[in-house]
Amino acid sequence: MAILTILQYPDPRLKRAGKPVDKIDDRIKKIIEDMFETHYAQENCAALAATQLAIDDAPAITVIDFSEQKNQPLCLVNPEISEPEGEEESEEGCMSVATVSVYEKVKRPARIRVKALDEQGKPLDFIAEGFMAKCIQHEVDHLNGILFIDKLSRLKRSRIDKRYKKTF
Ligand code: NI
Repeated sequence: MAILTILQYPDPRLKRAGKPVDKIDDRIKKIIEDMFETHYAQENCAALAATQLAIDDAPAITVIDFSEQKNQPLCLVNPEISEPEGEEESEEGCMSVATVSVYEKVKRPARIRVKALDEQGKPLDFIAEGFMAKCIQHEVDHLNGILFIDKLSRLKRSRIDKRYKKTF
């Protein structure tokens, strides 16, 4: 197992889309193991998407665990969201927007249906609400090359970019 590098904004690789996984082969299994190891090595990490890590041909995979004991791992391969309902606004942060720590409120559907495969290739189909719904939407955005700061107003975004420019 290996701890992978978490790419930091404005790394252009964060704009990559995750490649759909055809088969859970040894390469994909190794990536999932490394993703969980990387996740558990961080403080305050809820989830990671493969596209925010230094992985060539990053696959469409996210690993999630926001339990206090870090004992409720959820791996979603090729996750798809449908049937959005309601709206919730809550604060988000991101392991890839961590050079300058940024937390901003983001509006998202409150309830979603999620279809994916698990790490064994078994189909999953469930309804997510609350923090899980927010988390999965944030991760699926990563797998489409979108960061939560892409969803902010132009003004808020330019303030963040100014702070980043001072850092580099
Ligand atoms: Ni993130």
